[in-house]
Amino acid sequence: MADFLQNVMDHAVAVARKAGEVVCSALSDERKIMTKSSAVDLVTQTDQRVEQLIIQSVKEKFPSHRFIGEESVAAGESCILTDEPTWIIDPIDGTTNFVHTFPFVAVSIGFSVNKRVEVGVVYSCLEDKMFTARRGKGAFCNGEALQVSEQTDIHQAIIATEFGSNRDLKAVDHIFFSLRNILTLPVHGVRGAGTAAVNMCLVALGCVEAYYEIGIHVWDIAAGLLIVSEAGGVLMDVTGGDVDLMSRRIVAANNKTIAEKVIEQIDPFTPPRDDAPPLDK
Ligand code: IPD
Repeated sequence: MADFLQNVMDHAVAVARKAGEVVCSALSDERKIMTKSSAVDLVTQTDQRVEQLIIQSVKEKFPSHRFIGEESVAAGESCILTDEPTWIIDPIDGTTNFVHTFPFVAVSIGFSVNKRVEVGVVYSCLEDKMFTARRGKGAFCNGEALQVSEQTDIHQAIIATEFGSNRDLKAVDHIFFSLRNILTLPVHGVRGAGTAAVNMCLVALGCVEAYYEIGIHVWDIAAGLLIVSEAGGVLMDVTGGDVDLMSRRIVAANNKTIAEKVIEQIDPFTPPRDDAPPLDK
């Protein structure tokens, strides 16, 4: 198993780098922008092309493995996580950033076995930062070990979050209520890179104490959550229980004290699950 996971990690890193090159070079091309679940849930041909590039490359090396890919799911494929080895792919995390050339764009690749993420790779391609983690083996950025912040005082913390692409008034009200609670604690600051994967890597790097969001998808967080936990952080649901990969809710923090403080401020809501049958979505 150890060698097998190392082979998976090596392949994930190689293909993420290749994908990142394609993403970076596409930044100077004209981009045809399409929409998915809402007028602000964007997708481009580069997202679709890069996802196919990753899937083809993995299939050649690991023909029996399964895939959950953002754009394949958008095209109608199922989003069911089984016990089988599964590659969970976001070809461009931060598509809105990509469209606007806002400089945080990541390729995110998680690999799960028995529904547990074993390998996580996030390539923040414009920064040329390759974040990697293997369960039990630590988290790294360009080969350097990562360690979360030691801060336990929420008033001295930076919290990352995003507004997501759901503009339903009720959801926006929940998001603003949580944000209002956090800002008025007060905390040192609230930030958002525009990509869930990079926000989680910022927690792992130690420059952000916590990241939370309701509305993300399994492909946004699969790799990042292992990078956070291998850097010493904790992962929770927004109501305090264990993270459910398909629930579209996450709190990733440097420690339990900060996570619980953040959770106290969150006004939770329940988006349709990633693995819900299409009619329920
Ligand atoms: C999105 C980004 C964004 C987050 C959204 C995600 P995408 O992913 O991670 O930061 O707020 O919830 O869906 O669509 O750019 O892959």
